[in-house]
Amino acid sequence: MAWDLDEAIGYYKSQGAPGDQNALVALLREAQQENGGVIPAHVPAAAAEAYGVKESFLLALIRRIPSLRLSDRHVLELCCGKNCGRKNAELLRYAETRQGPRLEVRQGGCMRLCGKGPNIRLDGRVYHKADRQLLEKLLAELGI
Ligand code: FES
Repeated sequence: MAWDLDEAIGYYKSQGAPGDQNALVALLREAQQENGGVIPAHVPAAAAEAYGVKESFLLALIRRIPSLRLSDRHVLELCCGKNCGRKNAELLRYAETRQGPRLEVRQGGCMRLCGKGPNIRLDGRVYHKADRQLLEKLLAELGI
């Protein structure tokens, strides 16, 4: 099963005290390890929100640890499983027109969240009831 940002945040938040920097670094290391050697660009904002710290604090933390590397390349995966595939087919065609150096589009298998579909995953975070309006909004937030 693919790495899930929300699950990872939940796990590391349960491991340490609130604001525990070691848990934050462990989360960032796992994000990097599970995503091809770079921290997906969306992770600092999501982790900052979950931990109640500023994103700028996390970005500074990443810069201070030379082994951590932040990506500016975003990965969009559309579920093409039995339940989402037909509904996501049109969205996939649209997503592929937006593909470029900062956006990689992938077709994925069932995310085991069929009841909430159609599902997409952007930089490790799953979004339910996906449609073109949602995708356009997410890409605009990333400046893509
Ligand atoms: S088919 Fe999309 S989550 Fe199962």
